[in-house]
Amino acid sequence: MDVRIGLVGAGWMGKAHTNAFVNALMAFGPDYGKPVFEMVSDVNENAAKNASEQLGFSRYTTDWKDIVTDKKVDVVDIATPNAFHYEIAKAAVENGKHVYCEKPLTLTAEQSVELAELAKQKGFVNYVGYNNVMNPANAYIKELVDSGRLGRIVKFTGTYDQDGLLDESIPISWRHINKFSGSGALGDLGSHLLSISQFILGNIQSVNALSKIVIKDRPVKEGSSELAAVENDDVISILANYENDALGTISSSRVAAGRKNFLTYEIQGTEGTVYYSLERMNEVNIYFASDNAADRGFRQVFLSPEHKGYNAFYPTAGNAMGYNDMKVLEAHELLSALSNDTPYVCDFEFGASIDKTVDAILKSAKEKKWIDVSKKGGVTV
Ligand SMILES: NC(=O)c1ccc[n+]([C@@H]2O[C@H](COP(=O)([O-])OP(=O)(O)OC[C@H]3O[C@@H](n4cnc5c(N)ncnc54)[C@H](O)[C@@H]3O)[C@@H](O)[C@H]2O)c1
Repeated sequence: MDVRIGLVGAGWMGKAHTNAFVNALMAFGPDYGKPVFEMVSDVNENAAKNASEQLGFSRYTTDWKDIVTDKKVDVVDIATPNAFHYEIAKAAVENGKHVYCEKPLTLTAEQSVELAELAKQKGFVNYVGYNNVMNPANAYIKELVDSGRLGRIVKFTGTYDQDGLLDESIPISWRHINKFSGSGALGDLGSHLLSISQFILGNIQSVNALSKIVIKDRPVKEGSSELAAVENDDVISILANYENDALGTISSSRVAAGRKNFLTYEIQGTEGTVYYSLERMNEVNIYFASDNAADRGFRQVFLSPEHKGYNAFYPTAGNAMGYNDMKVLEAHELLSALSNDTPYVCDFEFGASIDKTVDAILKSAKEKKWIDVSKKGGVTV
């Protein structure tokens, strides 16, 4: 079945999504949905025109409304800055389109819950790009936890750190301004870690957070001496209490010297522990307390065809998967949902559950108190 795509936003993620659709067709074949690149939109006309020529879209426009109303578009693929996700996704669903939206779903839990309810009511595929959920390593770790082999889960510890914004001469961008991004390191990076932890352990019940802006002003453009204020968190630390009673310590930084894509976490249970880092994407480290006393120690498991998704790329164990492969698995899951009605994890409801946690964390950091995630507006607990 042909799946006709209308892409909105032709930046990094727009290109990554298109690459992922092409490679999903290569890896899985047309029975799981054949992407057709119908139309691309970007507010920057050059970006839209270049994307049309380089990525193979038949038509381009500078107005996303052309895409959500186009009769030849089946799925609207949203890869704009965060602030535009809500309006575009809502208009797409109202115009009878399926939606594939980058994370975070919207700027607030309220907007995300509204979108989740609307998409459910209209019955369209509604997918959010929390690609780490598609990483075979994280799926394997979820299987380990669900199987009970690690015992009762006691603690989740994780951080997602990068140093991409450590240089204070880097100009201000949409990522630093709340009306475009909603939050800083938390929404950009930390939400990925939250998506993994909530995928594996379930929802967080309450949070207590502390955040800091480390670089308070940035040049308005490259080389300029005129500065603009950074509005959101460069660094954030969170104490979390999961609904399953596990304790969490979670953090994120976009100014972490030396850390490039340091998404790392450990899950400790009463019968074992697992730890993982995205910088060592193909290695899962596991300890089982049930091993013979003399043999006890962490074992390193390389990804292999035994792990869900891996054999789309390699028939033998120990080959290296990379970031774009997660997006290929994501594109496949979406195409398959569209063409074969298969189930998927990262729907708008899942996206809204992350945004509820993000909202509670921001409120806690602001009001300096514990916030209950599940209650609207949050309460002190
Ligand atoms: N899943 C991931 O791992 C991951 C990684 C990076 C970014 N993201 C998400 O992807 C989204 C885009 O991020 P990016 O890094 O590609 O940003 P980017 O700045 O590289 O690209 C955004 C593009 O959107 C265009 N744009 C802005 N407003 C628009 C509008 N109203 N209509 C059409 N086009 C518009 C811009 O001109 C630009 O070309 C963000 O929501 C971000 O959080 C996700």
